Amino acid sequence: MTRTFPPARRYLVWLISVSSLAGCVQQSPAAVGGYNFASTQNSQASDDQILLGRSLVLNHDCAGCHGGASPESPDWLAGMKRPDQEYLIGPCAYSPGATPCFKTRARNLTPDNATGLGRFSERQIFNALRYGLRPEDTPDVEITSGTPGVGNFPRHPRYLAPPMPWPGWRHMSDKELYAIAAYLKRAVKPAVNKVPESEGPPDFWASTYTVDQIGPYPAPPFPAASERAPRP
Ligand code: HEC
Repeated sequence: MTRTFPPARRYLVWLISVSSLAGCVQQSPAAVGGYNFASTQNSQASDDQILLGRSLVLNHDCAGCHGGASPESPDWLAGMKRPDQEYLIGPCAYSPGATPCFKTRARNLTPDNATGLGRFSERQIFNALRYGLRPEDTPDVEITSGTPGVGNFPRHPRYLAPPMPWPGWRHMSDKELYAIAAYLKRAVKPAVNKVPESEGPPDFWASTYTVDQIGPYPAPPFPAASERAPRP
């Protein structure tokens, strides 16, 4: 029995609504800039940075999808291991046989070189969490814009498949995202586990991850239209 993760409902809606947008160019998130990468990309990770990364991984429940009940488990962040841990994205999540139907798989986040994050830099992991860009398709560069083709943002972005919740995770600070990358790369034991590629549409979810559907990055200033200044 394949898992249908609750957010699939949201992606299902996206898949239906984005089909009407076929042919549209992906809207660009608001330009992002001004990051001081030098100060956040330490070559020497401090204990504080590692412990911050560990606590963020625990309290964002990365392991709920990427594996392992606790850091004591041999499955800790080692990725999908059994077919019943696959996600079904699309109408087939609710009506067996309906299309489109994509099987997606949580990847191995341990630093094993061949099957995990070992071959990616901390900046590539940062770019995956901030922009949703697949690390294997995105060079190890500083990205200074959310507009395709500008500031090292890929002209044809290849996004991580749902239900990876990067549209929410991207709002963490640079310090937090680099702490997660440092924890994953330096402080988790490598586990060999080859996770099969996720399936997806030919545009690698570009028409799904538009500003209309996931909001801009950075978020609008507070208070935005549906917020108010705090009451006394
Ligand atoms: C709801 C399930 C879910 C949660 C929670 C989740 N992920 Fe993921 N993640 C996925 C899936 C599915 C993929 C595979 C996407 C693909 O194949 O395109 C993925 C892919 C990734 C990748 C890309 C790895 C690679 O080799 O391409 C990174 C990095 C990552 N996740 C980090 C995290 C971190 C860090 C957290 C917690 C802060 C987290 N994920 C939480 C489902 C999840």
